[in-house]
Amino acid sequence: MQRIDLILIGFGNVGQAFARLLLQKQAFLRQTREVDVRLVGIVTCRHGMAYQPEGLPLEECLAAVASGKSLTKFHQGQPCNDALQFIREIPATMLLETSPTQVKDGQPAISYLKAGLSSGKHVTTANKGPVVHAFGELTSLAEKAGKTFYYESTVMDGAPLFAMLRSGFPGAEITGFSGILNSCTNLLLERMSSGEDLENAITYAQSIGIAETDPTGDVDGWDAAIKLAALITIVMGIPTKPQQIEREGIANLSKAQFAQAAAEGKRWKLVCTALRAGDLVTARVAPQMVDSNSPFFTVSGTNSFLLVHSDVLPGVGLLESDPGPHTTAYGLLADVLNIASMEKGNG
Ligand SMILES: NC(=O)c1ccc[n+]([C@@H]2O[C@H](COP(=O)([O-])OP(=O)(O)OC[C@H]3O[C@@H](n4cnc5c(N)ncnc54)[C@H](OP(=O)(O)O)[C@@H]3O)[C@@H](O)[C@H]2O)c1
Repeated sequence: MQRIDLILIGFGNVGQAFARLLLQKQAFLRQTREVDVRLVGIVTCRHGMAYQPEGLPLEECLAAVASGKSLTKFHQGQPCNDALQFIREIPATMLLETSPTQVKDGQPAISYLKAGLSSGKHVTTANKGPVVHAFGELTSLAEKAGKTFYYESTVMDGAPLFAMLRSGFPGAEITGFSGILNSCTNLLLERMSSGEDLENAITYAQSIGIAETDPTGDVDGWDAAIKLAALITIVMGIPTKPQQIEREGIANLSKAQFAQAAAEGKRWKLVCTALRAGDLVTARVAPQMVDSNSPFFTVSGTNSFLLVHSDVLPGVGLLESDPGPHTTAYGLLADVLNIASMEKGNG
């Protein structure tokens, strides 16, 4: 039985969904893959930190944070209040990073991932910040350390986008992407096309947990831009910041524009496009009126969709339905299992 010990940074929506997924899958993974995955450490901002060498009691940890309590009471060993020290000193196979995205500089997640790699751990993140701000640096640190840096959940949650791109296109040149990468605006546009105004559509999206309290990151196209920047950076190898992407949000679409789309049998979608020519990429996030021949026309509700364009396959699509913390958590688990398989292969 292969033993994989994990440290989780962040125990919010995604971190907790990961703990629930692990509870659901632990026995299955032991039986079917002969891998014993244990969450031995958790680091949060206001809910303390905890380590148990044989694995934390996840149901009790979930119950504690649900009632606003600290995780510190589950800690075994010397007390520790410093996240970086915790990451460096706690023995584990991998570090899973799920702290909030800082669009400006990707910190402190970048420091956490560096500390993980420099203390001999594989690392994976659901956070787009480190990818757009330090992808090259983290990749080369991982190479030097003989460890892996993965990021499946950063774009399209748990859909196996990067796994597909890593192994499914040998010898192909990826020439572009086009897609719908922001679930929130896709839902807002759908409701606005039924006559709702933006404010009411946002109120609805907030009521079902899709829009944040401050929805401007979605509405103004920043979330879509950071995802597109992450894709260009990782897959095309061209470091790109969200600020470099031409960006137009959905706030200025008028009732008349929705009426026009309806009259012509079309729909408004917030479309991301990136087209490569040599070392240059033209990238854009903007609302587009698409007709029923477009693959984006039927991407409904909170679903997301990406078309990958390459010199050999003109368009290969990936659709993710019902995204959320549970699917993001699966992206992290998929990274863990893919890294575990590589370790087994190397061992
Ligand atoms: N939600 C999704 O479906 C989704 C999808 C794809 C990607 N992501 C990405 O996944 C990450 C987590 O999202 P989430 O929805 O789980 O966020 P969240 O609910 O806000 O949880 C964030 C967690 O990180 C902890 N934290 C905050 N600042 C920290 C710091 N400086 N050091 C260590 N821990 C810190 C928080 O601690 P406290 O508990 O003490 O507050 C909390 O446990 C984000 O980067 C997000 O962009 C999320």
